[in-house]
Amino acid sequence: MTDETVTELLRRAYLDEMETVLNYQTNAIVLDGVRAEEIKDSLRQDIQEELTHADQIGQRLKQLDESPPGSAEFEARQHDLQPPEESTNVLSVIDGVLAAEEDAIETYRSLIDAAEAADDPVTEDLAVTLLADEEAHRTEFRGFKKEYMRE
Ligand SMILES: [Fe+2]
Ligand SMILES: [Fe+2]
Repeated sequence: MTDETVTELLRRAYLDEMETVLNYQTNAIVLDGVRAEEIKDSLRQDIQEELTHADQIGQRLKQLDESPPGSAEFEARQHDLQPPEESTNVLSVIDGVLAAEEDAIETYRSLIDAAEAADDPVTEDLAVTLLADEEAHRTEFRGFKKEYMRE
């Protein structure tokens, strides 16, 4: 019953979540300045959520008799989320986070459609939950961006 589009999207989402953890962690260390503190706290909090997402996706793959990928299959995609040259460039990180969250939102929307087409309501339900989390992250960072643009 394992649907290839569903498992492919799950494996891709798993690696995306891990790349997000890596880049959020790096940026939470790299950023400097008073205005960076709130962003760093938020990134640290999100890291835990993204790790939980990866775990949930990995567990679902296992239930589908598949396994989550290791690093050999990894291909970096988050070019917008690399640590900024200037460590006080908070805006660059905010924009990178927004791009990553948009990308995750798109992936989970595709996963919802694929799971529905494959008659896999459990994966669909998981994708809906993950989509809601990523939309909440996006809202949070849109708020940071608004605040940042005002100053
Ligand atoms: Fe996530
Ligand atoms: Fe997220």
